[in-house]
Parts: sequence; structure tokens; C-alpha cells
Amino acid sequence: MQLNFTRTHIRMNRIIALANQKGGVGKTTTSMNLAASLATLEKRVLLIDADPQANASSGLGIDVKSVETSIYDCLIGGADIRDAVYESDVPGLDVVPSHIDLVGAEIEMLNLPRRERVMAELLKPLAADYDFILIDCSPSLGLITVNALTAADSVIIPVQCEYFALEGISKLLNTIKIIKQKLNPRLEIEGFLLTMYDSRLRLANQIKDEVRRHFQELVFKTVISRNVKLSEAPSHGLPAILYDADSAGARNHLALAQEIINKGARAES
Ligand SMILES: Nc1ncnc2c1ncn2[C@@H]1O[C@H](COP(=O)(O)OP(=O)(O)O)[C@@H](O)[C@H]1O
Ligand SMILES: [Mg+2]
Repeated sequence: MQLNFTRTHIRMNRIIALANQKGGVGKTTTSMNLAASLATLEKRVLLIDADPQANASSGLGIDVKSVETSIYDCLIGGADIRDAVYESDVPGLDVVPSHIDLVGAEIEMLNLPRRERVMAELLKPLAADYDFILIDCSPSLGLITVNALTAADSVIIPVQCEYFALEGISKLLNTIKIIKQKLNPRLEIEGFLLTMYDSRLRLANQIKDEVRRHFQELVFKTVISRNVKLSEAPSHGLPAILYDADSAGARNHLALAQEIINKGARAES
């Protein structure tokens, strides 16, 4: 597979999409916990929930049913994105929640002018207010995900350390390539992130080695272990760092946040 992506960045405040059209690979878990970790490291962070399931919103303690303005209203209804910014319990972390109505948004957006750039336009007035804007994508390569990738500076691709880990990755990379060519020349790969890693399993180690061999320096050094606290925390409306700060899940995401910050600092100097 030919890869023409580099990991250089020229500015610190940036928009990062988390994408993989495969479900259950850790996009939402990483979004919530990376966002909380970056905020804990004193960055100003906004998490955009772009999945109709709204798991990232509820996992960060937002009462999705009582939300008055969601990302759906901004994408479709012309609502002001500032009205859709909700504070989380983590100081420095804000959330633009999702809504189940987002399921129908792809069809509703077909008639909009510049329909791939709606999210990019929405985020413009917010960019200066945050060091990092993360976008949690749904398991699809549809128009909302295209919008997220068109708005983003880079993309994190979570890869689950399981059978068929690399299934569908070439399709995702091809989509990224097309978006880079046609819609967003800034778009880079922030990194492939190995998730749900269990060091006791030979298969997990084989997958880890295979992904590293394939994508080399594009793979984050930080690996996210399988850790039950990461799956428990969302039902309490908390990121792992508030639910159990000593857990492997919390520590892994803090390390990931630091790796991303360090990389940005290196690229700037
Ligand atoms: N590192 C992990 N350890 C344990 N459970 C995890 C881990 N990452 C994700 N999970 C669980 O796996 C399921 C799928 O993860 P999720 O982040 O929702 O994936 P996606 O957003 O890609 O569909 C969720 O139930 C989540 O709690
Ligand atoms: Mg998800």
C-alpha cells in the first residue's frame, strides 16, 4: 500500500477527526478519553459528537434528551454552533452533542450548497477558542464523515487488536486520499491507534506487529489496552480519568494526549 502522508503540523490548535467505518473499534472511547486527557493537560478542548448514537455525548455526562441544540440543528437547521456548546464535568472540555435525528441528516444535506463543507464552515468561528477540536465519527464513510474529514487537519484511525483488524482500512485510506485531493489538502493522518490490546493474547501481539510493519511511524507509540474501566465509565457519564484515574485506561489515554501534544510541539519548533 502506497502512503503519501506525513505527520507534520504547523500549528497547535487543530481539528482531529476519529474515523473508521468499522463499528466497535474504539472511536468513541478514544474520543471521550483523549478529549478529557487533553483537557486535564490544560488544553482547551471541544468534542463534536458526529454519531447519531450520541454515545460520546452521554458518556461525558450530557443528558442527551434535554439537549436543545445539537450538531444536527447546526448542520441542517442553521443553528448557531455556539448555542450547541455544552460544558462537561471535566474543566476545559466542552461538547457539541449529537442527536438521533442525525440519522436522517445525510439525505437532508443533499440539497445544501457545498454540502461537504458545512461542518468546516460551522467550526470556523470556534477554532480560535480551542487548542483541540475532536470529532467522533459514526461507523460510516457517508456525508457526515466526509464533512468531518473536510473540516479536519488530521485523522486518528483506531484499529482494534482483533481478527480482521485491517479489513476496510484500504477503503478508508482511499476515502482520505480523495478528500485530500478534492476537498481538503490539509488533511493528514495523525496516527493509527491500536486499541483493546491484551498483551496475553498472541493474536493481539501479531496484529500489533502487523500494523506497525504496515504503517510504521504512522502508528502511535501509545497503545490502548483492553481495560474494563473504559467500558464502565460511560454508564456513569464520566471519562476514565474521573471514574478511576489510576486505571490502565486512564493512563493510556493520558499518554496518548501527551504524545499528540509533543508531536505538535516538535512540528512547530
Ligand atoms: N480499551 C478498551 N477496553 C475495554 N473496552 C473497550 C475498550 N475500547 C472500547 N471498549 C468497548 O468496546 C465497545 C466499542 O467501543 P466504541 O468506542 O464504542 O467503538 P466505536 O465508537 O468505534 O464503535 C464499547 O462497549 C466500549 O466500551
Ligand atoms: Mg462510536
